[in-house]
Amino acid sequence: MNKPTIFYPQTEAEFWQKAKEDAVLAIRETLQKQKVCRLGLAGGETPKHLYELLAEENLPWERIVIILIDERYVLSDHSESNLRMLREALLKKISLPPENILAFDTSSTRESAAEEMSRKLTKLGQERNPLFDCLILGAGADGHIASLFEGEEVLNSQELAALSQAKHSAVQERLTLTLKALENSSRAILLLKGSEKLAVVQTLEG
Ligand code: 6PG
Repeated sequence: MNKPTIFYPQTEAEFWQKAKEDAVLAIRETLQKQKVCRLGLAGGETPKHLYELLAEENLPWERIVIILIDERYVLSDHSESNLRMLREALLKKISLPPENILAFDTSSTRESAAEEMSRKLTKLGQERNPLFDCLILGAGADGHIASLFEGEEVLNSQELAALSQAKHSAVQERLTLTLKALENSSRAILLLKGSEKLAVVQTLEG
């Protein structure tokens, strides 16, 4: 994976302006080369605000496929659901065809939800590689992305989607795309905002 380009905004407004510009650029550049742009979207408050900004952009959503990168194992109307967050921040404001959203089915068992997502991603990967054109990620203060936490077995998974545990979160039972899936992306935007994320920035600085 290439060394990250790190942008240090001077103000909060600059942070969001740059995040929005980079996300829109990634989408538009992809759509100049491909019929469809595949976006992998994470949960979390920082990514959520970027999704709210993207909802205001005049993007060709019918040519965008959204894959929700991770989920808490709750029903999609639960306050902790990432799909609910995405629906409120973005989906209800745009006209995205229902078939253009891939999310974990938390109405079934966690195992079958992970297996179904793995199957869908495998099919997408067979149609075209890399699997994703752009990922929009947040990171926890501990450096986790998606629901991939240090020391967890899932970090070595050879599946594309798997179960995971978030020991210190309100909802510990998780579903997540794996590193094997996430590393298969043309680009990624990692949103790190707040002093508690400084250690993560310093790790990226190498
Ligand atoms: C989740 C996320 C998680 C999130 C980071 C950053 O389901 O919570 O996928 O990886 O992106 O924890 O979240 P904040 O932006 O809220 O700090």
